[in-house]
Order: sequence, then structure tokens, then C-alpha cells
Amino acid sequence: MSLFITFEGGEGSGKSVQAKALYRKLSQSATPALLAHEPGGTSLGEKLTRCLKWTEDTDISPLTELLLFNASRAQLIDKVIRPNLAEGKTVICDRYADSTTAYQGYGRGLDLKMVAAINNATAQGLKPDLTVLLDIPVEAGLARKRTKKQDRFEQEETAFHQRVREGYLKLVANDPERWLIVDARQSKGEICEIIWQRVSQLLSSQKG
Ligand code: TMP
Repeated sequence: MSLFITFEGGEGSGKSVQAKALYRKLSQSATPALLAHEPGGTSLGEKLTRCLKWTEDTDISPLTELLLFNASRAQLIDKVIRPNLAEGKTVICDRYADSTTAYQGYGRGLDLKMVAAINNATAQGLKPDLTVLLDIPVEAGLARKRTKKQDRFEQEETAFHQRVREGYLKLVANDPERWLIVDARQSKGEICEIIWQRVSQLLSSQKG
């Protein structure tokens, strides 16, 4: 059997660093694994990502955003995630459907039932076994990003990012079994160790 593990968090939370660190740990322990990233991860997905993150046209409507993120995900699930899970690999995905709920649902204010319906249609029942939330106060996260060129989301006002963070915390509260919430202000090494403990437990309970 294989595990599906997703990483979530606001801007500057360090989730991509931790997703890569977990991938390295799995590889070192001879656990077949694959690291994917959303949005993107397929050639169509990369094109959609460029539009979503970098287009100068900031007038993309929230509904269009919702549909494009889901289109990118549908392609990634079909071409990458499901085939690798079927081969028995542990698949780590840096962002997944919870990003859409947090950003397009809570952040943009789209109807949460509609977001859930579209996310569910895209996922076709593919739910993570574990989702790691790297939680960080909004100002601290944005400060980590200030030195580089900012994409459409990083340019959003603080209140948007605050709604995203609160959205994530509500998602955790609604389904605590699936989530591991980690304070992203700890050192990279400490965070990596906390995540590894949980993942190794899951791996051994699968084997046992
Ligand atoms: P990242 O590559 O830095 O994680 O950037 C992806 C950006 O896209 C990030 O700001 C969050 C945003 N996003 C959404 O708004 N909705 C989604 O469904 C996904 C996957 C990402």
C-alpha cells in the first residue's frame, strides 16, 4: 500500500522546503516516493500556473481561478498522482485541494459548498492520508518573501492572507485526524523531525 501526504500553508511557511526534506528522508529509508507540486507538475499544469501566478492581468475572476486550479489538479491526479500511488509509491504533494478551499474559498470569499463540490469532482475520492499544515503568523510569513519578485497571491493585502490562515485553521478543526499542524517558526531541523515522527508511525502501521 502507498501513502498520499500533502503539505499546506500560507506564504513563507516553508512547506516546500519541508516537502523536499520529507522526500529525501523517504528516499534515504528506501521507501519508494514521488514529490509533486501544485499548481503545475504537468506540462498543461505549468502553463496554467504561469497564468495563475504571473499574468499581468490581475482581473482573473475568483470563479475562473477556482476552475483553473482544479483543471491543473485534475491533470496532475490523472497523469502523475494516481499512477504513482498505483505503483506503490508514497506520493508527497506540495499543496492540494485544501489550498483551493483556503485561498479561493476563505481568501477570495467564494461559496464554500461550491468550492467543496468542485474540489470533490476533481479529486474523485482521492483524499490525503496525512496533511501537514505549516502554520505561521501572516506578517512573519510575508516578511520571508519580501526580497523576491512577488506573484499575484503574494501581492494580495494582509487581510487576504489572514483569511487564508484562518481558513486553514478551520479545516484542521473540522478534520483533526487527517492533519498535523506544526508551528513554522521552529527551526527547519525541528520541523523536519516532527513530521518524520508522524510519517514513520504511519508507515509502520501500514506495514504492521
Ligand atoms: P507556491 O508555488 O508558492 O505554493 O504558489 C502557489 C500559489 O497559488 C500560492 O500563493 C497559493 C496559490 N494557490 C491557490 O490560490 N489555490 C490553489 O488551489 C493552489 C494549489 C495554489
